[in-house]
Amino acid sequence: MRCIALFSVKGGVGKTALAVNLAHAAATLSGRRTLLWDLDAQGAASWLLKVEARAGAKARKGLTEAELTDLVQPTAFPNLDVLAADRSLRRLEADLAGEGEKMLKRALKSLEKRYDRIILDCPPGLTELADQLFRAADLIVVPLIPSPLSTRALAQLQDHLAAEMKSPPAVLPVFSMADRRKALHRAALEAKPDWPVIPYAAAVEAMTATRTPLLAGRKSPAATAITSLWADVERRLAG
Ligand SMILES: Nc1ncnc2c1ncn2[C@@H]1O[C@H](COP(=O)(O)OP(=O)(O)O)[C@@H](O)[C@H]1O
Ligand SMILES: [Mg+2]
Repeated sequence: MRCIALFSVKGGVGKTALAVNLAHAAATLSGRRTLLWDLDAQGAASWLLKVEARAGAKARKGLTEAELTDLVQPTAFPNLDVLAADRSLRRLEADLAGEGEKMLKRALKSLEKRYDRIILDCPPGLTELADQLFRAADLIVVPLIPSPLSTRALAQLQDHLAAEMKSPPAVLPVFSMADRRKALHRAALEAKPDWPVIPYAAAVEAMTATRTPLLAGRKSPAATAITSLWADVERRLAG
């Protein structure tokens, strides 16, 4: 099992859109047994895949007791399950801070036999949860809106990881919502030609209405970008 976390200090940068589309790509393009674990109490990723937490479900309790398999639900897509967010996650930070620092790692271990890929959709911020997922994930995918500031934010994250950890996880920066009509975006893209790019696309916005991953809909440049980003992620996990 390999674990990929979508992380950013900021909100609204495309973490959830990428988590849903990458999880769907893992399940459909690579035929991986995939779990999308929605760790953001807002539950946007769960909602986009038409899964909602069952009444009374408590992801926070499941996490603290490493008893999560009962909370997993199938989606409409083969190989793709969701561990939906629920309101209990709002209090997760307090638990994580109070209890042992390896809670998330333990919880992931309880799922590792059932899945080949676990994708974590995280709430924003350098929180206690973030520190735990840096220790548990194999790859951190960081969506960045193209600008000099986002390049700096990435450097700050890498400094943080280097300072806090002996062997930090691999980090994959991804330009998100890139708009080549904007000079600032073009300049940022040219400065980092190796970073994967997800274009700003109406097709991604439309997911909030269709609740369907890009690769399950019509061909689009954004869908092509997801295919190529997923291939990139798999290459990094292999290397
Ligand atoms: N590549 C994109 N092109 C256009 N809109 C996007 C793109 N990625 C995300 N969005 C939209 O931007 C908003 C924030 O994206 P979201 O994935 O929820 O960010 P985060 O999870 O980082 O808060 C959503 O309304 C989403 O539909
Ligand atoms: Mg989100």
